[in-house]
Amino acid sequence: MPPFLRPLFKTLPTLILILIIPSLCILSTLLRPSPPLPQSPTTPTTTPTSLRHLAFAIAASAGSLPTRLPYLQTWWPPNPSRAFLFLDRRPPSNWTAHLGGPTRYVVSEGTQRFPYLYRGGTRSAIRVARIVKEVVGALGRDDDDDDDDDVRWYVFGDDDTVFFVDNLVGVLGKYDHRLWYYVGSWSESVEQNVRYSFDMAFGGGGFAISAALGKVLATVLDGCLMRYGHLYGSDARVFACLAELGVGLTREPGFHQVDLRGDISGMLLAHPLAPLVSLHHLDYVEPIFPGMNRTQALKHLFESVKFDSERVLQQTVCYDRSKSWTISVSWGYAVQVFEGVKPLPDLLQLQRTFMPWKRGTNIKGPYMFNVNELPRNPCERPPIFFMRNISTDKGLIWSSYNRYLPKNCTRSGSTKKLEQIKVFSRKKELDDEQLWAPRRQCCHVVPSFSPRELEIGIRPCGNEELISIST
Ligand SMILES: *[C@@H]1O[C@H](CO)[C@@H](O)[C@H](O)[C@H]1NC(C)=O
Ligand SMILES: *[C@@H]1O[C@H](CO)[C@@H](O)[C@H](O)[C@H]1NC(C)=O
Ligand SMILES: *[C@@H]1O[C@H](CO)[C@@H](O)[C@H](O)[C@H]1NC(C)=O
Ligand SMILES: *[C@@H]1O[C@H](CO)[C@@H](O)[C@H](O)[C@H]1NC(C)=O
Repeated sequence: MPPFLRPLFKTLPTLILILIIPSLCILSTLLRPSPPLPQSPTTPTTTPTSLRHLAFAIAASAGSLPTRLPYLQTWWPPNPSRAFLFLDRRPPSNWTAHLGGPTRYVVSEGTQRFPYLYRGGTRSAIRVARIVKEVVGALGRDDDDDDDDDVRWYVFGDDDTVFFVDNLVGVLGKYDHRLWYYVGSWSESVEQNVRYSFDMAFGGGGFAISAALGKVLATVLDGCLMRYGHLYGSDARVFACLAELGVGLTREPGFHQVDLRGDISGMLLAHPLAPLVSLHHLDYVEPIFPGMNRTQALKHLFESVKFDSERVLQQTVCYDRSKSWTISVSWGYAVQVFEGVKPLPDLLQLQRTFMPWKRGTNIKGPYMFNVNELPRNPCERPPIFFMRNISTDKGLIWSSYNRYLPKNCTRSGSTKKLEQIKVFSRKKELDDEQLWAPRRQCCHVVPSFSPRELEIGIRPCGNEELISIST
């Protein structure tokens, strides 16, 4: 051995030890079986999730209640559901006179001991965030045997959040409530998501927390509230605490924060391929049907909900070859008829009827979806037919849509004489296939000699059927 290698040779065993022992330690840490997850389910769920498994906790204030009651009444689940308003103080004693609306309320605990440091915000954000703790404390019994009567999901919203309860039940039923889930959606406004987070469920759109997660979150929430005094809203506080627990958002596109203003028909005409779960900020947008006030318009949409909740706003497109029209149905809401052939992907983009949440000149979005520009002159826009009435006959649901003509417009073009559109369909069921792997349905135009009326049938597409004029 050359002399210069001798010292190395002597120290080699030590070197090997130095190198090998730590890596063995690391390996053993990696190979050690991890402790079983506390929330891991051992038995499959026996019953499907239904309304009785949901607990609604809605943030309201005694001051805003009178103006928000009409919204709450449209969707409030029937008794004996677990649905509560959380208020800052006792409401006026005559508020329960509103039949068919909320009847149970909780006055939230004080929040003086928590810091609120966001300049220009309001302290009520702490109270609203703590509803998570308050509702779990009130309802989350400490039994781990998963009784069928137990709460499976805690649902949170504001007093101006409108929930589509049956669809919400279906969407939450996809997930195992014994695992940790945080379900909701982002804002339509890129700017809002940049400011808060793309991974946060915006509180106005509503969000849901599985019972297993709710139990843990309720225990740790107060500590988080001490640390996150600098945040603006309640949703950001809940999100921060969930992030610390290591939980991410499960985004469901049917929740709508509606950070938009003006006419949101462009949004309602091209809903994502998912059940409609919520709408928010209806005080800030125009009534969703023309010629009605906001409450009337919302109640009108709920007429469709009564007949086929799952189908509401689901978009179906078909073509009238003889007249060269493209027809886009947003079921239970409105139908649009375009002259000429428009490919399906173009119709899935949102027509820019609305304005951005943030007001100011030259602000044009951007939004979390693709937008199509419309002609500035409302008279040049494609004709739109709004839902008028719905009925059932021999197992078919018939919805009819009447033409809406903006003020001072005169009709022209090949759709000039068209007055009414009738659509028939069967009730859509929320089965697993539709929930996990939804497919858009197809429609066809029923041949007719009437220039005033169009009849359209909606049905599941054939296996290889394409939504295109050439099939
Ligand atoms: C409750 O009573 C007050 C005072 O009489 C009245 O102004 C208010 O409109 C009532 N509110 C409701 C919800 O009936
Ligand atoms: C909306 O219209 C309904 C029915 O006409 C009416 O009862 C209600 O008071 C109106 N609401 C508002 C806020 O104007
Ligand atoms: C809607 O109302 C009109 C007029 O009241 C009626 O003729 C029509 O049959 C109704 N259509 C449906 C689908 O209920
Ligand atoms: C409709 O026309 C009348 C008369 O020309 C005008 O006064 C009114 O402002 C117009 N309305 C709209 C919505 O353009």
